[in-house]
Amino acid sequence: MEHKENVYHIPVLAQQSLDGLRINPSGIYVDVTFGGGGHSSALLGRLGAEGRLFGFDQDADAMANIPADSRFVYVHSNFRYLYNYMRYHNVLGKVDGLLADLGVSSHHFDEADRGFSYRHSGLLDMRMNRLSELTAAEVVRTYDEESLARIFDVYGELRQVGRIASAVVKARKIKDVGMVENLLEAVEPFARRDREKKFFAKLFMALRMEVNDEIAALKEMLMHIPATLKSGGRFAVISYHSLEDRLVKNFIKSGNFEGAVRTDFYGNVVSPFLKINTKIITPPPEEVERNPRSRSAKLRIAELI
Ligand SMILES: C[S@@+](CC[C@H](N)C(=O)[O-])C[C@H]1O[C@@H](n2cnc3c(N)ncnc32)[C@H](O)[C@@H]1O
Repeated sequence: MEHKENVYHIPVLAQQSLDGLRINPSGIYVDVTFGGGGHSSALLGRLGAEGRLFGFDQDADAMANIPADSRFVYVHSNFRYLYNYMRYHNVLGKVDGLLADLGVSSHHFDEADRGFSYRHSGLLDMRMNRLSELTAAEVVRTYDEESLARIFDVYGELRQVGRIASAVVKARKIKDVGMVENLLEAVEPFARRDREKKFFAKLFMALRMEVNDEIAALKEMLMHIPATLKSGGRFAVISYHSLEDRLVKNFIKSGNFEGAVRTDFYGNVVSPFLKINTKIITPPPEEVERNPRSRSAKLRIAELI
């Protein structure tokens, strides 16, 4: 039988991210995006009996993947509350390494009733945490034209965003655009013939990022990293969107999201972090071939000074 984690999600850049964290076998680690547990299980494989691993996920489905391992503690929460949980577990300032593998898992796209994929018809849901209120159906049914255009622009990085938003608003007067098939019909005229799938994927990604407030959650989590790690502790972030990658890059460079650097008396840049990889790490062609969902992954690693 195929191992469960392969069905739920294939971990991306697993070796590179763990190598970058330079795992200390008796250290304390946090995987803020537990998902199918692929990275976590590889990390547990590098820990000795003394090591500990906390795994966060806001999606209740991920709980099916919790390993039977006394070194592992599952935290069923959004990672934006990293600080609170680290304080609760009395490990603030003691963590050796943190890993974030952003976005959603293959499981989300594959399960039709989760409403993440343009490939399945039905209700647009897209909530990672099914207890939260806002669904993607609600977004397309109720947001005003300007807000929809902003989401398609900033998160989807699409063109003609005003016209797409206007088409959605027009279509919803006669059809329920909260259903995948109706939304696709409304926006389809804006897709280039040969790039329809890419267009739908970007549009859906934009809605997903809005529904799950992904950029704000990422910023909050990153802000808590200096208090979480011990000095010399490392963090690794795998992102799949240029906006996320830019935030991570700036944060490593300067400790803020704008990338505004402070310099000391001698003109040296002052950042709380030391960059571990100077060149961005992306999956090798063999990995992309084996797992096409890894193709847009970008890994950055840094150390708390
Ligand atoms: C790309 S998958 C991670 C897959 C995992 N590394 C593995 O090897 O199976 C991202 C996971 O993080 C979760 N997630 C995304 N954003 C989150 C957030 N803000 N708080 C908690 N969990 C989050 C998703 O529910 C999903 O399960």
